[in-house]
Amino acid sequence: MAFVERVFSGVQPTGNLHLGNYLGAIVNFVKMQETHNCIYCVVDMHALTQGIDVWGGPTELARNTREVTAAFLAAGIDPKKHIVFNQSQVAGHAELTWIFNCVARIGWLSRMTQFKEKAGKDRENASVGLYDYPVLMAADILLYHATHVPVGEDQKQHLELSRDIAQKFNNDFADSIRAHGIADGLFFPLPEPMITGPATRVMSLRDGTKKMSKSDASDYSRINLTDDADTIAQKIRKAKTDPEPLPTEEKGLETRPEADNLVGIFAALSGRSKQQVLSDFGGGQFSAFKNALVELCVVKLAPIASEMKRLVADPGHVDAILVDGANRAREIAEANMVKTKDIVGFVRKA
Ligand code: TRP
Repeated sequence: MAFVERVFSGVQPTGNLHLGNYLGAIVNFVKMQETHNCIYCVVDMHALTQGIDVWGGPTELARNTREVTAAFLAAGIDPKKHIVFNQSQVAGHAELTWIFNCVARIGWLSRMTQFKEKAGKDRENASVGLYDYPVLMAADILLYHATHVPVGEDQKQHLELSRDIAQKFNNDFADSIRAHGIADGLFFPLPEPMITGPATRVMSLRDGTKKMSKSDASDYSRINLTDDADTIAQKIRKAKTDPEPLPTEEKGLETRPEADNLVGIFAALSGRSKQQVLSDFGGGQFSAFKNALVELCVVKLAPIASEMKRLVADPGHVDAILVDGANRAREIAEANMVKTKDIVGFVRKA
């Protein structure tokens, strides 16, 4: 089966979207709209996999679901041309997860580094959902037969697992797939990760060796998408640097994580390469570079923050977008689920 190129990606509504989420994922989501049919999903079912202290309970979950949606829209995702919805409104995600649970192997899931990190030492006490998280993610993608998945570096292993599941399903059910008229036996595509741009990994502003994270105790370690212009400026002025002037060549950034991070952020926000940024600022002091970075961040991010604020104040509007998106997603999902069930041998109403 020749697959139509389709993009799918998801963001968890677990609070505090920051510059790392924006540059590592959302910017690429916006870009892919020009060349592909895109489906962008707020993965509220994934949010439940960690303790309630992480996802914050029902009120927070609903608030965060609307906030991620608002960030998608404010960043420039077009919910009419493409699809924006929350996962729990389309039952196919859970249905396909069950089938994939019976395709995926325990050994595969036990190798997932994100599970090991999130479960920590007390693995016996982690939820079954946390263990199964990558299977639900595979179902998200393959429910729509998506071929391309813009994600951050940290999701690469989960994408490989999605490919393994797709491949094993295609193998396990090869005869049935052919019997259902798919001559080449390729029912599910093997989805490709798309990891692009100069700042796919944005690091903490306080420590250039640590990822920017919503759970860092210091708010100065990150720029939140809801920060106003003054807060953004303050955080960049306080960002850790080193005493050397900026290098003129990219190679000079290799042993200087904080400088590398700030130059990467500048490059990503201005749509240039790190080398181009260094051609302008290399040899100069950090203070001049930081002034330019403050200005750039404020120009690019403050409008997103204010649009998010406007949208979050109008939950009825946001919810209507999610319902419309879910209706359109469900159409694709249900057609694919019917075929999947036929291939598996589940009897259904003719
Ligand atoms: N696991 C992803 C993350 O934490 C979120 C996600 C869930 C996702 N389902 C997905 C990303 C499907 C891409 C495709 O970033």
